Amino acid sequence: MSVQEVLVDRQGEVLVQSSSPSSHGKRFYIESYGCAMNFSDSEIVASILQEESFSATTDLEQADLILINTCSIREKAEENVRQRLRVFEKIKKRKPGTLVGVLGCMAERLKEKLLEEEKLVDIVVGPDAYRDLPKLIGTASDGEKGVNVFLSREETYADISPVRLDSNGVTAFISIMRGCDNMCSFCVVPYTRGRERSRDPYSIIAEASDLFSRGYRDVTLLGQNVDSYKWSSPDETEKVNFADLLRRTAAVDPLLRIRFSTSHPKDITDEVLHTIAAHRNICNYIHLPVQSGSSIVLKRMNRTYDREWYRERVERIRTLLPDCAISSDIIAGFCGETEEDHRETLEMIRFADYSMSYMFYYSERPGTLAAKKYPDDIPYDTKKRRLQEIVDCQLEISLRHNQADIGKTFEVLIEGNSKKSDAYFKGRNSQNKMVVFPKREDLKVGDYVMVKVLDATSATLKGEITA
Ligand code: 5AD
Ligand code: SF4
Repeated sequence: MSVQEVLVDRQGEVLVQSSSPSSHGKRFYIESYGCAMNFSDSEIVASILQEESFSATTDLEQADLILINTCSIREKAEENVRQRLRVFEKIKKRKPGTLVGVLGCMAERLKEKLLEEEKLVDIVVGPDAYRDLPKLIGTASDGEKGVNVFLSREETYADISPVRLDSNGVTAFISIMRGCDNMCSFCVVPYTRGRERSRDPYSIIAEASDLFSRGYRDVTLLGQNVDSYKWSSPDETEKVNFADLLRRTAAVDPLLRIRFSTSHPKDITDEVLHTIAAHRNICNYIHLPVQSGSSIVLKRMNRTYDREWYRERVERIRTLLPDCAISSDIIAGFCGETEEDHRETLEMIRFADYSMSYMFYYSERPGTLAAKKYPDDIPYDTKKRRLQEIVDCQLEISLRHNQADIGKTFEVLIEGNSKKSDAYFKGRNSQNKMVVFPKREDLKVGDYVMVKVLDATSATLKGEITA
């Protein structure tokens, strides 16, 4: 796999859309980029718009309102959005009444400046202001620009029931918190998504129960840092931490699988690990981004843990959850990174034995601590070379990790047809590995099935049904 492909993967394919357009009312089209949180937010936006009698369309040409939910995490992510805006511009020229709205992190980062830079844009809405969309659409319909980039300390959209877009009917995201209080020096998120706040657990459990009753079997609890989930009732008599929330979600039904993302190495507790161990339906998979294997770089990144701390957490996971897969995010070529630092990152990949990683080279983001404090001094070619070495190392480890599963039998939740052939199903095991296997007549999407692994690549397990 080339470096480019890895980057494109993570930066988000165009997703979204669904539901058939109704004959009355206006139609909106929405595209999402970036992290799972953004895709989840688009489902909240869809819900708000449907309340206003908008219906979703998958056809850009049919849309009265084109929305793009954007990511700012790396420069490349913003470039992708700008390219899409050029396409929307052409449509708007052909259909002058069409409104174009920019949502999400790029809207928040650039604010009104976006309107100056991109003349076609009518609406700019930050991640905490989606309730205001109907009003902003009204303003834009009257020929003015609609902007709301207010960041809230309370908004969690707890009462909004997301409209599932592009859904397989089996897996869904549930947002459990918003924002981020960890000031990682490379990261734009605290500036685009504001302060951390946790959603009312009752609304989370209600959403999980509703999904289960509609046939969903796998939910991922989403937050920038799920381990710092913390909720108290207004009178402070009831307090819920992340382990409590996991327990409550797991109790919805034994057939509902629970996943979560993202865990922060400084915050993941033994209580959470024990909770995973105690519940069969909480998946044996932890996304635990290391970012760098060098303590010096981690310090500059303001990650608040060092190499030894991270290694201890990995060992703890291995002890308490021997079957747990761990994955990571890794940044190559952060400010001041030496060859020795880079070597330590490669060593960490081997030590942690990641099942997979999302890998990037450092992209300086305006306004972040790193942009203010440290020169972006690693030449582009060096960043790319180091990233390629990281990718190669991870692919080798992933292949080994998957090959070690040959001969094992896993419970797999059927998610749909395999990409390559309708004669095969695909689904994931508890460790979040994609498993492909020949179909059997009596089985359907949403069923659990036992699959024995016969072969493996670095990305997929191949097997056959045993029961
Ligand atoms: N440059 C490169 N990668 C970044 N990430 C966050 N900010 C940057 C940046 N400025 C990566 C981190 C994070 C993931 C979502 O994106 O690895 O965990
Ligand atoms: Fe991108 Fe981060 Fe915003 Fe998600 S939170 S869309 S990764 S900038």
